[in-house]
Amino acid sequence: MKIAVLPGDGIGTEIVAEAVKVLKVLDLPLEMESAPVGGAAYEASGHPLPEATLQLAKDADAILFGAVGDWKYDKLDRPLRPEQAILGLRKHLGLFANFRPAICYEQLTHASSLKPELVAGLDILIIRELTGDIYFGQPRGRRTAVDGHFPGAEEAFDTMRYSRPEIERIAHVAFQAARKRNKKVTSVDKANVLETFQFWKDVMIEVSAQYPDVELDHMYVDNAAMQLVKAPKKFDVVVTGNMFGDILSDEAAMLTGSIGMLPSASLDKNNKGLYEPSHGSAPDIAGKGIANPLATILSAAMMLKFSLNQPQAAARIEAAVQSVLAQGLRTADIWSEGTTKVGTREMGDAVVAAITTTTKTIKS
Ligand code: IPM
Ligand code: MG
Repeated sequence: MKIAVLPGDGIGTEIVAEAVKVLKVLDLPLEMESAPVGGAAYEASGHPLPEATLQLAKDADAILFGAVGDWKYDKLDRPLRPEQAILGLRKHLGLFANFRPAICYEQLTHASSLKPELVAGLDILIIRELTGDIYFGQPRGRRTAVDGHFPGAEEAFDTMRYSRPEIERIAHVAFQAARKRNKKVTSVDKANVLETFQFWKDVMIEVSAQYPDVELDHMYVDNAAMQLVKAPKKFDVVVTGNMFGDILSDEAAMLTGSIGMLPSASLDKNNKGLYEPSHGSAPDIAGKGIANPLATILSAAMMLKFSLNQPQAAARIEAAVQSVLAQGLRTADIWSEGTTKVGTREMGDAVVAAITTTTKTIKS
């Protein structure tokens, strides 16, 4: 099984190193090869997604990704910015289905900025369409306005668009995921204003006929943003477009109080995927050895489950993460009074230790 390892920028290198360490103790035939991506790749070769990195990702069975981005690249032309690396990988590899679970771990209930009773036991799944919408819609650009409020003025524009097959395929992903959970899908749209999202809603309803066992409801995106902080536990699977999904998934992640704990998967139609933590490159704490590697370690578990067909190995990682939390080990982002503060490497070592201890128990 070939894994392309793309650590990227900021804390990316530190957290990916820990996930690689964890993968290595699993006794699986994994071939891992690294390549630069994002700002690191721009520094090395002048492009955030060099041809060789893209090729490595294409040839792999799965991709383990860290994070990209740094303020120092904000002034670069758009095609050279680190973010283009992740957008390019999504586009070139057809990674249209983005899974972003928001789980509130029992031991971390108090880390949330919401009242504990609102988030205790929270387990929702945001499914974000990842290769369409206003992110990729053409045309886009700058021009002189020929109409509107200020004809003759300079203007910028993007295009929001979704085709029927794009909506259908993400709808199927959402209904199938809901079948394995609490059988409820909330489709988030802005059908009251946008043609694109009236169409989105219509197609969702059509596809839902094939899943009579799954309940479908619809919510406008503004209301969904409100309901997520009002009563997040009412959701099960949320399916939405690229732009709304970007925004709502950050909101949902923060409900758990521990964005440093949340993995994500971006899958193509054959379940080949890119796996990355839900958080970003955090340049402010990069190189300090304090970042939480658990989201990346859990992303590696998702990779074993979704793309590499190794559910048992994935379960071992998940159990090891539960075990280190139960031991009271915490990185700074999730630390609270009475727990033990550890650094990135110590946290990775503790997960490795938890895995090897259970291995010994199983063998003896
Ligand atoms: C995300 C990020 C990206 C996005 C950026 C880095 C391009 O915010 O994965 O949510 O907008 O999709
Ligand atoms: Mg985002």
